[in-house]
Amino acid sequence: MFDLIVKGGTLPDGRVADIGIADGKITAIDVLDDATAGAVIDASGDLVSPPFVDPHFHMDATLSYGIPRINASGTLLEGIGLWGELKQVMAQEEVVARAMTYCDWAASMGLLAIRSHVDTCDDRLLGVEALLEVRDKVKDYIDVQLVAFPQDGFYRDPTARENTLRALDLGVDVVGGIPHFERTTADGSASVKELCEIGAERGLPVDMHCDETDDPMSRHIETLAYETQRLGLQGRVVGSHLTSMHSMDNYYVSKLLPLIAESEISALPNPLINIVLQGRHDTFPKRRGLTRVKEMLALGINVGWGQDCVLDPWYSLGTADMLDVAFMGLHVAQMTSPGEMRKCFDMVTFDNAKAIGLEGYGLHVGATASLVVLDASDPIEALRMRASRLHVVAKGKVISTTPRSDATLSLDGRPNVARRRHNVESP
Ligand code: FE2
Repeated sequence: MFDLIVKGGTLPDGRVADIGIADGKITAIDVLDDATAGAVIDASGDLVSPPFVDPHFHMDATLSYGIPRINASGTLLEGIGLWGELKQVMAQEEVVARAMTYCDWAASMGLLAIRSHVDTCDDRLLGVEALLEVRDKVKDYIDVQLVAFPQDGFYRDPTARENTLRALDLGVDVVGGIPHFERTTADGSASVKELCEIGAERGLPVDMHCDETDDPMSRHIETLAYETQRLGLQGRVVGSHLTSMHSMDNYYVSKLLPLIAESEISALPNPLINIVLQGRHDTFPKRRGLTRVKEMLALGINVGWGQDCVLDPWYSLGTADMLDVAFMGLHVAQMTSPGEMRKCFDMVTFDNAKAIGLEGYGLHVGATASLVVLDASDPIEALRMRASRLHVVAKGKVISTTPRSDATLSLDGRPNVARRRHNVESP
């Protein structure tokens, strides 16, 4: 009857249920008989979640930290310059090897869907070819979407426009852009318009790095929302970063946010990176560079959390752990009430999946049988502990297991095991 039953776990909505899996799909959520399964995972007392989703990443740059040097200033602009140096010396097989190692890390962390930007400002399209290969290699356990990303500017770089179109012709899934990096505001707006038109003509989603700057006058999200409505792209467009919104005039934002909501644009801040890269030109007070998350959520805008970078020219840490990402987002956005903390967990699962249009996602009958069993009793505890991924199931198959993180103590008069679990909602 079932290839696998995940027994007695607590789902993110608090239900306790057995999950029956057959032929790569969830076929039952109920009280199920172990005798009907080829294998059983005992998840009693543990959280069972759909897999983590990273809607914003750069897999062509990941794990390149220190090649050919590190980012001394820590700024976005030095990172872009350093990436330009790295592109001159990197080979396709090396990009594939780094990305495959990263995908191993992701699999172990229950991160089973990744939307990765890939730089199209390279006449050889080496990164594009490499990540198309990786997308195919990992397709049985990780869903990879690729975004054609003209890192050096769709118009600013002389061959970026042609190469971005070539990348889309090769099968890259999503149209990207970087309007705030074009030479002028007018060029930025024009790039948004043309890239959205390309998305509309080709029937593709659009996902722009948009206003990743502390400049409050960087307002390309307004054009992105307008073009989304003009071209009927509602629900298919993402504004990534949106950091300038942190510094914008409040009256302007009161007009902007309803426009974003009407356009059904998803917003994807990247808290680890935004907190590190933004505000670098400030003295004090020093801006924190995260977009207005709670204000967008209050208007019903879909907001996720992206990771953006791991060990690359822009970020010197990272472990493919979306709970780390949500943990930082929770702190910087001050989402500390129980409901807000739960929302932060939903943002790296359900809301990220919605942002990138992932099909078959979730824990319901008929969904793809991908899930993660966490060493935590609920989503808040998972965040607090960045809980171990005890079992990761991808498309019906167990692909990774990790031991619990209990410590063995040698303290007189104390129990010999320290478990850090402590459910904060029922103290
Ligand atoms: Fe990015």
